[in-house]
Amino acid sequence: MKVRKAVIPVAGLGTRFLPASKAIPKEMLTIVDRPTIQYIVEEVVAAGIEQIILVTSQGKSAIENHFDYDFHLDAVLYEKKKTALLEEMRHLANLIDIVSVRQKKPLGLGHAIWSARNVVGNEPFVVLLGDDLVLSEQPCCKQMLNIFDEVKESVVAVQQVPKDETYQYGIVEGQHIRDRVIKIDRMVEKPAPGTTKSDMAIIGRYILQPEIFGLLEKTTPGHGGEIQLTDALLALSNQRGMYAYEFEGTRFDAGDKLGYLKAIIAFALRHPDIGENFSDHIKHVAAQL
Ligand code: UTP
Repeated sequence: MKVRKAVIPVAGLGTRFLPASKAIPKEMLTIVDRPTIQYIVEEVVAAGIEQIILVTSQGKSAIENHFDYDFHLDAVLYEKKKTALLEEMRHLANLIDIVSVRQKKPLGLGHAIWSARNVVGNEPFVVLLGDDLVLSEQPCCKQMLNIFDEVKESVVAVQQVPKDETYQYGIVEGQHIRDRVIKIDRMVEKPAPGTTKSDMAIIGRYILQPEIFGLLEKTTPGHGGEIQLTDALLALSNQRGMYAYEFEGTRFDAGDKLGYLKAIIAFALRHPDIGENFSDHIKHVAAQL
């Protein structure tokens, strides 16, 4: 079945980025010349997805406005004959069909995804976390859709992490069926040191079968009263099977201060307008350290 819809949860409180994220959603913080969320939406568009379901909450309307048509701005740019900018703004407003649903309380990622159930319906869908960026030749979402077409079951994106950092992630264990593709046997959320041999960590990209919604509904709240996605993922992998895909590219957790700064550097170095000058500047700074 063709994957047509992408769910992007952006309803979290973003406490790691306070005070910056107090009045501005962390997904709207800028990486060079566009907000984090725009890179994610562009990745989805490049993968051929037809509709995005944003899971939002109070105070996140700037995200919806960013992808909306702005009559006033349009008129001003037209009057001032700023044609290139005018075209860019119109293109942004027409990127893709975006609908939003509300997560009424920040009850965790699992609950955020569950909030999109009525709009997704009974079909497989992609999930991209609103603060997780992947820099790659082929969009990570497209890479995952190619694997989904092959295995026809849920796929989670994974990356190798240092052994002493596995406790920070959901870790998958299983057998390689070929290069970069693992059939999952077991999944452990934030494993205590020494409890898993695997160093394959789940990042913020998933393709999920719709049975996940029923499983999320049955999931009992865990730490902090939050409904964890990993518990339902584990149940889904036992029920239908699930694959982990070691994507090609570099992932940045832009919801974390250090991850955000690393993302800015990586994206700025590749930027067509400023990349070269920025690279010279970085070399100059590095030479002074
Ligand atoms: P994070 O783990 O980054 O959580 O969520 P957070 O609450 O936003 O941030 P911190 O940890 O307090 O700094 C990953 C993604 O899931 C969304 C977030 O908006 C983010 O894009 N999310 C998280 C929700 O939509 N709802 C939730 O209840 C939790």
